[in-house]
Amino acid sequence: MPTVPIAQKAREMIEAVHRYGLKVPRTIVFGKSRLNELGDLAFPLAAGKKALILLGGGSARRAGLDQRIAALLGRHGVAAEILEGVHGEPTVDVVDALAAKARALEPGLIVSAGGGSVMDAGKAVAALAVNEGSVEEYLEGEEQTRALAAPPLPHIAIPTVAGTGAEMTRNAVIGHPGKKVKRSMRADSMIPTVALIDSMLTLNVPHDVTASGGMDALTQLIESCISNRRRPETTALAQEGLRLAREAIAVSVEAPGNEAARDKMSLVSMLGGVCLANAGLAMAHGIAAALGALFGVPHGLACGILLPYTLRFNAPACSAELAHALSAFLNQGGMAPRIIEDGIAAVEALADAIGIPPDLKEMALTEEDVQEIARRSIGTSMSGNPIPMNPDQVAEFLRPLV
Ligand SMILES: [Fe+2]
Repeated sequence: MPTVPIAQKAREMIEAVHRYGLKVPRTIVFGKSRLNELGDLAFPLAAGKKALILLGGGSARRAGLDQRIAALLGRHGVAAEILEGVHGEPTVDVVDALAAKARALEPGLIVSAGGGSVMDAGKAVAALAVNEGSVEEYLEGEEQTRALAAPPLPHIAIPTVAGTGAEMTRNAVIGHPGKKVKRSMRADSMIPTVALIDSMLTLNVPHDVTASGGMDALTQLIESCISNRRRPETTALAQEGLRLAREAIAVSVEAPGNEAARDKMSLVSMLGGVCLANAGLAMAHGIAAALGALFGVPHGLACGILLPYTLRFNAPACSAELAHALSAFLNQGGMAPRIIEDGIAAVEALADAIGIPPDLKEMALTEEDVQEIARRSIGTSMSGNPIPMNPDQVAEFLRPLV
């Protein structure tokens, strides 16, 4: 079968997400070096006002991305102000401080360039720049007291790491270190206006970040196929992503400068974002959120460790859906009798090859920790799990892993 070039595959996928009526950015731009189109995209959105650029820690600045973005905007007459300050996953304090600056600067447009954390911060800042209060008041859960009154500012999200697909989604994951929780601020209107995906920006992302990003995307694709909110359209898109994922992840980790692998990985990540936002997730993401909030375990790393175990656990409740997903992951045309066992073994082999630990034993968790993780894993992602889970059942699931 001839291989379809990734640029063409991406065009087909983007057409499909719009045709299916999925919740995605109004404009999705995908391809090598397409960051150069930023000025054209930004000019009508900024509407004569300045753009506020959100960047992550030092690496983007060292790579000169801040100056490149400012220059691309400047060429189209869009003045830019650069705001740094998103180091790691955004917290309530960080987002409130960024929102205060945004309110004072009155920009017309937010541009976020970075990993999932930076793009999530971008979504929250775009919303809070024109809405009152602390982000804490908008976080979903029993304590939520506000909903967005005004639509967020236009937002262009530019991923520089493949994995989360956050450029495609409508939630911002915000940490509350004091309460040791992570919660989402979520609204359809928070979907970035433009997702600008240029895989050249992901070249030479460090090994461990590439590996955990890859496992996050893989987990999102598989979990969206087995989630109890799954739908045929997202399953079809997830399978397209899964067919590319195995090779894309392995090669991106092994050969960080391999442009073809990075391009595939960016598409895999984009599809993961579409699927999670439109079909939900499952238990690996539920537990990963708790491990992140309580112990700071990087999200993709937690997903990569948990995925084989959660798939084996859930298999009896979603065998047909899981078999199809794993068949795509293995790039098998037919449905072999041992497809689930073989597919999960291949997920484990990939995780092992890229340096993901086999379990949580290194963390030396206590029984108390296990129970706390289990309690905090119940949330939006867990509610999509094919087998309904309560904290006692999650704790029982976790004990052999720790
Ligand atoms: Fe994820």
